[in-house]
Amino acid sequence: MKIKREISNILVTGGSGFIGSAFIRYLLKNVPHFKGVCLNLDLLTYAGNPQNLKEVENDPRYLFYQGDIKDEVFIEHLCRKYAINTIIHFAAESHVDRSIHGPKEFIETNVLGTFHLLEVIRKLPHIHFHHVSTDEVYGCLGSTGFFTESTPYAPNSPYSASKASSDHLVRAYGKTYHLSTCISNCSNNYGPYHFPEKLIPLTIINCLRKKTIPVYGQGTNVRDWLYVEDHAKALWMLLEKGNSGETYNIGGEEEWRNIDLIHEIIKIFAQIKQINKEPYIELIEYVQDRPGHDFRYAIDCSKIKKEIGWHPDHNFFQGIKETILWYINHPLWIENVQSGAYLKWIDTNYANRS
Ligand SMILES: NC(=O)c1ccc[n+]([C@@H]2O[C@H](COP(=O)([O-])OP(=O)(O)OC[C@H]3O[C@@H](n4cnc5c(N)ncnc54)[C@H](O)[C@@H]3O)[C@@H](O)[C@H]2O)c1
Repeated sequence: MKIKREISNILVTGGSGFIGSAFIRYLLKNVPHFKGVCLNLDLLTYAGNPQNLKEVENDPRYLFYQGDIKDEVFIEHLCRKYAINTIIHFAAESHVDRSIHGPKEFIETNVLGTFHLLEVIRKLPHIHFHHVSTDEVYGCLGSTGFFTESTPYAPNSPYSASKASSDHLVRAYGKTYHLSTCISNCSNNYGPYHFPEKLIPLTIINCLRKKTIPVYGQGTNVRDWLYVEDHAKALWMLLEKGNSGETYNIGGEEEWRNIDLIHEIIKIFAQIKQINKEPYIELIEYVQDRPGHDFRYAIDCSKIKKEIGWHPDHNFFQGIKETILWYINHPLWIENVQSGAYLKWIDTNYANRS
């Protein structure tokens, strides 16, 4: 598959979050032919943590600006100043549970924020715009079938509705204003630096701390799990080789019921620590299901495999073992995130945090 696009200087929105930071680490560590500037624009909300980028922060190609994707003037200024020719857009409010308790921020960041970025590229139409989205826009599956790129949208939570809205805006701007845009919809990611409010890091950390592991309903909901480094690789390949105006699904082809996933994590955790798994299984506590909890997501990612030549490098067992080992070996990162110390560090180091 031939390279279609030369990525000279790239603006990454939300690069201090979980997937955005994995993408920046991947780019700066694994893509030696990238010689340009990688500019990370992140507001540093509770989900943004500059410590996620410690491994690459001294790379001369890396630059950081604290800012809001809704600040159109500032983003246009950055794009002009650094001759940006590619934007990859990760910045979002991303936690479904939070969207149920407070949808407003999700609309403001995910819908309005994306709109403002699109307005910037309307003024600078040489910029290629890649929008990172979720399989949750497709709604919910029964026990069989897969989401394809042509599955109709049917979002069920304020989070997925806000992502669906932003996908529609990206598509419409691409068609109406003849802009170069691309959308990817991926399944649940997991891996190092994942914020502890999400299922996999929560389970690992609660094993480490011997704390209760909450499970929604009966734990029978099914998710497809994608190792975050495989996702980062897919995104880079799409930037270089993806067709403008297209959508690509990215999945790990690893479907797990939540309860089986938790049992598997406990089993591998106990093997690594050479301890008995039974006391950890007793930590599992079933809690009331959340409203609108989709039963199953599963992705058909044959398009990106066939057209772009991507494939995941990690099967679930490799990925989850690496993830568990990472959390075991990074107690300080966990401590900083759980105590909120990273926010104090941001306040001290970045004056305009809002
Ligand atoms: N995590 C997953 O499993 C998953 C699955 C599918 C799709 N996605 C999508 O991938 C993207 C990245 O997800 P993630 O898990 O890394 O999210 P995250 O919550 O870890 O990170 C989001 C980042 O965006 C930043 N941000 C928030 N509002 C901003 C604003 N107004 N301006 C600038 N920066 C802002 C935050 O500070 C944070 O660094 C999101 O768009 C999400 O919808 C995530």
